[in-house]
Order: sequence, then structure tokens, then C-alpha cells
Amino acid sequence: MKKYFMNNNFFSFSKTYDSLFRPILKNDNGIDAEALTNLSLSLLAFCSSRRDWSIISAVLDAIKNDLIICNKKLHQQICGINFTNPLGLAAGFDKNGVATNIWQDFGFGFSEIGTITKFPQPGNPKPRLFRLANEQAALNRMGFNNDGADALLRNFERQKKCKSQSRHNLCIGINFGKSKITPLEEAKEDYFYSMKLLIPHCQYAVINVSSPNTEGLRKLQNPDRLRELLREIKTINNCPPLFVKIAPDLSFKEIDDICQLIKDEKIDGIIATNTSLDRLGLGERVLAKSGLKLSEEKGGLSGQPLQTKANQILKYIHNQDKDIVLIGVGGIDSPKAAWQRICSGASLIQIYTGWIYQGPKLVPEILRGLLNQLNAHGISNINEAVGSGLDWRE
Ligand SMILES: Cc1cc2nc3c(=O)[nH]c(=O)nc-3n(C[C@H](O)[C@H](O)[C@H](O)COP(=O)(O)O)c2cc1C
Repeated sequence: MKKYFMNNNFFSFSKTYDSLFRPILKNDNGIDAEALTNLSLSLLAFCSSRRDWSIISAVLDAIKNDLIICNKKLHQQICGINFTNPLGLAAGFDKNGVATNIWQDFGFGFSEIGTITKFPQPGNPKPRLFRLANEQAALNRMGFNNDGADALLRNFERQKKCKSQSRHNLCIGINFGKSKITPLEEAKEDYFYSMKLLIPHCQYAVINVSSPNTEGLRKLQNPDRLRELLREIKTINNCPPLFVKIAPDLSFKEIDDICQLIKDEKIDGIIATNTSLDRLGLGERVLAKSGLKLSEEKGGLSGQPLQTKANQILKYIHNQDKDIVLIGVGGIDSPKAAWQRICSGASLIQIYTGWIYQGPKLVPEILRGLLNQLNAHGISNINEAVGSGLDWRE
């Protein structure tokens, strides 16, 4: 059975993805974007908790064969955590950690689970996720739909029981948010509850204060509020390395204030960036599903149009303070964009929208591209490229 699947002539996961999903992803209409995500995630969750079944283990071996790139030049230790490569799955895809056991098989060096909130919540009314196929972008106003911190704990525990685990090398981050029903003034208790419960299951934690889809959440980016919140969170026993995820819509002055408090409170790093409320030149673009212009729709934009802005913000932070560890996310959809983000100052990078459009093969493509650049520049480890400003060599 294993041999059958391992032979690429019979089964190539990326080719199967291309033929099944590419035609759907070429259109704004057709199968609803959220329904498609949920279907894929359910399949992955099934495989993740049954990877000791021989048929599933054979399929996963074939996927690994197709997607994993292993090279010492990509290894790094950041905040005391070992990363086998710098490319991670961004928050929002596996919100409830139902497929935690599987992300390593897809070639990722780390995955970020969440956003998780203290209370389970349904999120905003549907439809709330829209494809913008021509622009390789998405608009979402999910609103932190998730099953809550207790359910995530159960999911972690269930998958841990699976005899044949694969995630021993994969770093897991958990992204924490505030429940909709919790008033802003009580946000601290909300983050505290989820974090105390879940930090034994992650290597790093993210405080998400930048989702545009939970009313008032971005007010927590206010330096005084954020300082107080982070100061308290740091006191949690065994608090892992802590990152703050910021919006791309902050002014440079606001970013300066956040950098200052990150430094003062000895927070490990920043994830830049979340989705944008700015329409990034697409304000007049009509959304096929609603017939409304993007300027009239609520939600955050992700994907290709976000690339320049997310890179600018990351570069700005790196130039302000080279000691802040940066995870770069937003519009990374090619080896070149990944290299650019690392050379702008990102120690690690994440993908979401680009990964959906391009398919799982984007992971090995990016990692091979990074290795080629390291060779072209005569560099022996990816950490030497971080913030180097090096160019892209064809
Ligand atoms: C459908 C969807 C859901 C998301 N949910 C979350 C989330 O729950 N928490 C979070 O921090 N970011 C979330 N994000 C933002 C991504 O993690 C990422 O920051 C953003 O999409 C930019 O990266 P990209 O252009 O590669 O997609 C979500 C993005 C999308 C498209």
C-alpha cells in the first residue's frame, strides 16, 4: 500500500489539489469559500486524528514525499524554539486545532492555531468569506468563530492520543483573542483564562489585538491598554515567548508606540500583519456575491494586494528596532515575496490566502526558492538573510 502511494506516478498530492481545487478557485462564484475551507479542514482533521490507520499513514507519507523540504540551512533557533524551516501556516485556518497533527506533513516549519477565545462563539452572519480570484485576494469578516478554549484543549488531548504522531518537530503557536461578549475592560480575564488552559500545548503565544471583525478589539492596540494587558499576561506561570499581532492600518506613530512598549515590557516579538480595513486600491471592485463595492462591504482584505503594505510595515519596525523578533505575514505568495519579507527583517514568515490559491505546493516552492537565494548569495543559514536587505537573484 505504502509503495503504491509513495510512487509519484500514481499519486501526487499537489497535482490532485490542482485538478480538484484550481477550477473552483478561479471563480469568485461557485462553491462558497467558507464551505470549501470547512470541507477541506474536516478531511484533514479526520486524517490528523487517524494517522495510525495504515491507509491514512500511506497517504500522508506520499504527501510528505511531495511537500517536505529538509535542509539544515533553513533551521533556526528563535526565542529558544527550534524551527526546522521559517515558513508557517498563519492563524485563522485551523482555528480549533482540529488538524494539529498534520501541518508538518504539509512541509510547514510551524503552525499557528486559533484565534481562540474563552467562550465558544459562532462569529458573524454568513456569507462572511469572499474570494477575489483575479486579485488572488480574499475579504473576510469571520468574527473569531471558534469552539472556545475548552474545546481546543480537548482537541489537543485527543490528537495527542493518536499513536503515530508526526508533530514532534513542529512548533505550535496559539493565537488568543477576546470573546465578543466580554467587555473591553474585562479583556484581561478572557485572555488569562484561555492562556492558562492552553499554554502547556504551545511553544509560543500570540495576543491578537488586530482583528478588524470583533467590535472594539483594535482599541486594545492603544499603547496604555496594551501595556497593561501585556504586563499582566507576562506574569502567567510558564508564559511562553509572547508575540503581538498588529493591524496593517496603524499609523507609523502608533507603530512607534507599540515598538516602545514591546521593548519596555520585554515582549518577544510582533506578527505583522493581520488583514486590512483599507481597500488597497480595490474600493470600486464589485463583490460578485453581494453586488456591492468593496468600499461598501465590511471585513479585512488579505492576499496579494496586502503584500506591499505588510512588507512596508515590517521593514519599518525592523529599521526602528532590530531586536524585535518579527513574523512577517500578508500577501506572501511566491518565493520572491518570501525572500523579500525575510530580507526586510522577518525571522519567520506565514502564509494563508496565497496557500489557498496556489495550493500546498507553494510550501516546497517557497523553501526551494529560499535555498536557491542562500546559495546565490553564498549564505550558509537563513538567519543571515534576516534584515539583510539582499536582492532577489534570478
Ligand atoms: C478567512 C480568514 C480567517 C482569518 N482568521 C484569523 C484569525 O482568526 N486570527 C488571526 O490572527 N488572523 C486571522 N486571519 C489573518 C491571517 O492570519 C493573516 O494575517 C492575513 O490573512 C494576511 O495573510 P495572507 O495575505 O497570507 O492571507 C484570517 C485570514 C483569513 C483569510
